[in-house]
Amino acid sequence: MKNKKDKITEMSEKELKELASQLGKPEGDKGIKIAQMMNESNISMTRKTLEHLSLEDNDKILELGHGNANHLTEIFNKASDLQYFGLDISELMKQEAENFSIEHHFNQKSTFQLYDGTNIPFSDHSFDKIFTVNTLYFWEKPNDLLNELKRVLKPNGILCITFVDKETMNRLPFTDYGFTKYDQNTFSKLIEKSELKLTGTKLYTEIIKSKSGEEMERKYWVMTLSKSTKN
Ligand SMILES: C[S@@+](CC[C@H](N)C(=O)[O-])C[C@H]1O[C@@H](n2cnc3c(N)ncnc32)[C@H](O)[C@@H]1O
Repeated sequence: MKNKKDKITEMSEKELKELASQLGKPEGDKGIKIAQMMNESNISMTRKTLEHLSLEDNDKILELGHGNANHLTEIFNKASDLQYFGLDISELMKQEAENFSIEHHFNQKSTFQLYDGTNIPFSDHSFDKIFTVNTLYFWEKPNDLLNELKRVLKPNGILCITFVDKETMNRLPFTDYGFTKYDQNTFSKLIEKSELKLTGTKLYTEIIKSKSGEEMERKYWVMTLSKSTKN
């Protein structure tokens, strides 16, 4: 039986580039399917991230790169009176997330906004909890975005950044196109340049199954951060 890498390796360069571009910014009819696939295959990463965030009643939460946001149900089950704000660079993902939110009656407590991928359109100290799953690879200005995250985080707030480790990414050929890959070392170096403090580094290993049943090992990091100063 062919493994996932073999199947992906059979894709042409054009197909790999298209897949990479859809993962970084889903668009069109294909984008809807890709977003569904991402949400299902990444839900374990999102769940672990939510565990590390320790959501509490009345928390104001920001998520960067929510995709179709089909995980909103899991978020609102964690605590009462949460207020959720989602930012994405994809107009399609904003629409899909809004549709899901309306269908599931979350629209009173969730808001979705497009932004430019770097400048966060909220005022200082806005959020108790901030998280992002599988978006780090696409950040065009990681230092600037980290400063923005620090700015909008409340003084005692928690930020979780979750990403697949470079070693796993290297086994996926589409990640050669437009992805910046990180491991613990390169991530820590990035954080050293910011005014954020790394308070937790946790590596998870899991076996994931594609729809057609092939298995592969995935290693991913849930990095927990706080402000290093009270500003
Ligand atoms: C690979 S998908 C991950 C979606 C979801 N978080 C998951 O793990 O399944 C990447 C998402 O991040 C968005 N994105 C890419 N760059 C971003 C950035 N700088 N800020 C926020 N979202 C971004 C994309 O549009 C897409 O919705």
